[in-house]
Amino acid sequence: MQKLPLKIGLLGLGTVGSGVVKILQDNQESISIKVGRGVEVVKALVRNPDLPRAVNCDSFTLTTDARDIIDDPEIDIVVEVMGSIEPARSYIIESLKSGKNVVTANKDLLALHGRELLDAAKEAGKDLLFEASVAGGIPIVAALKHSLAGNQIKQLAGIINGTTNYILTAMADQGRDYADVLKEAQDLGYAEADPSSDVDGLDAARKLAILASIAFGSRVTIHDVFTEGISKISKVDLAYARELDCSVKLLALAQEDEERIEVRVHPAFIPNSHPLSSVKGVFNAVYVVGDAVGETMFYGRGAGSLPTGSAVVSDLMQVAHNLETYANGSLNCTCYRQLEIKPVSEFKSAYYVRLNVKDEPRVLASLAHMFAEAGISFASIIQKPKPGQEAEIVLVTHPCQEGQLQQAVEYLKVYSKVLDICNIIRVEGGQSWSGRD
Ligand SMILES: NC(=O)c1ccc[n+]([C@@H]2O[C@H](COP(=O)([O-])OP(=O)(O)OC[C@H]3O[C@@H](n4cnc5c(N)ncnc54)[C@H](OP(=O)(O)O)[C@@H]3O)[C@@H](O)[C@H]2O)c1
Repeated sequence: MQKLPLKIGLLGLGTVGSGVVKILQDNQESISIKVGRGVEVVKALVRNPDLPRAVNCDSFTLTTDARDIIDDPEIDIVVEVMGSIEPARSYIIESLKSGKNVVTANKDLLALHGRELLDAAKEAGKDLLFEASVAGGIPIVAALKHSLAGNQIKQLAGIINGTTNYILTAMADQGRDYADVLKEAQDLGYAEADPSSDVDGLDAARKLAILASIAFGSRVTIHDVFTEGISKISKVDLAYARELDCSVKLLALAQEDEERIEVRVHPAFIPNSHPLSSVKGVFNAVYVVGDAVGETMFYGRGAGSLPTGSAVVSDLMQVAHNLETYANGSLNCTCYRQLEIKPVSEFKSAYYVRLNVKDEPRVLASLAHMFAEAGISFASIIQKPKPGQEAEIVLVTHPCQEGQLQQAVEYLKVYSKVLDICNIIRVEGGQSWSGRD
């Protein structure tokens, strides 16, 4: 007997919602064969039903009342692609309570209320899937939950914000200033009118909180993630990066060390020999090291209507499979322990330190002495003359603890020959950079 099609209610029909509709329309036949039944959108919640839509809406109803979807007994799966915290949070919880499986793309919500939502899904015995919430079209959530599940994850390092990667790539390739490229990114629609969530690293921090929770089986929230943005990176730093055979990226890094998790988002010099350095423009990548599998890297488009829609549709199909096998609610929360978060002062990195100093004898020796006092040695030194008896010095340290670096900075601040501490940027990429750990 032919099975009835699965009925989908969309909460939101913007960029991602439209992508979902288009994929379900364009690939209708292959999707229904793979799922074993048709999959059709029956209702979509919007704010303004009179707005023009990117997709043909003739086959479903637009509504401005969420209850039309949440309370509709015919709807099997609710797809939350409206964004923000409220009312999305309440709608997801109510949908689960009313017996629906839920798919969401909402990283803001998950990074803040993931535990509450996953608990609600567990209580309801329903799926809450969220592949699209991290790195758009890259299937990294499923990879961590399923394909790499047999590994102890050692490290996860990602370029998971396309806007900042676009800006840093254009600055590096074209020798342009940050403000100039940011304006271009806004004109092209790659950056919001208020770009702070992207350029301050918050968007990447939300995604990292979600990924780290899955990778290390321990709940991490946005509040645990040390976060620094890219606005202090100048084209001078990018020119030095090139000279040092590195690229500058907004790196999202999570690793487990002695039963503690280190989670941080900040700009970093990455050696050009590291696979993440080749990720350019709006592309994203997540590099994962597992104890059994070794190094892996997942690469693709981190945003956009169809790439993100692709992730939502794959979750829809997983829910359909679970419905078929009575397995809904079986793999929602993968956290099985609660590890401590490592304090910032114990983070270990190499550092790029750019200084303006007086061009006088013994200055370099004094700098070396100050860093040595803090227990830090140099991997590389570049000195360039500047007009007016000044010099620009770039020091690249061997790996040291953040606390040691801060101690060295205190010495620099009171040394009269240092005119300006222009920038300090972490150098990541491990052995391939310094040859030491
Ligand atoms: N865009 C991406 O590339 C991308 C990538 C990954 C994840 N995400 C996530 O996906 C989600 C959706 O993003 P988006 O870019 O598709 O957003 P969007 O283009 O702004 O679309 C939001 C949709 O939700 C509707 N909506 C919002 N608030 C509503 C409310 N209170 N009541 C009724 N309808 C409401 C809007 O209605 P109107 O159309 O009538 O205004 C619109 O259709 C967000 O959580 C975002 O973080 C987006």
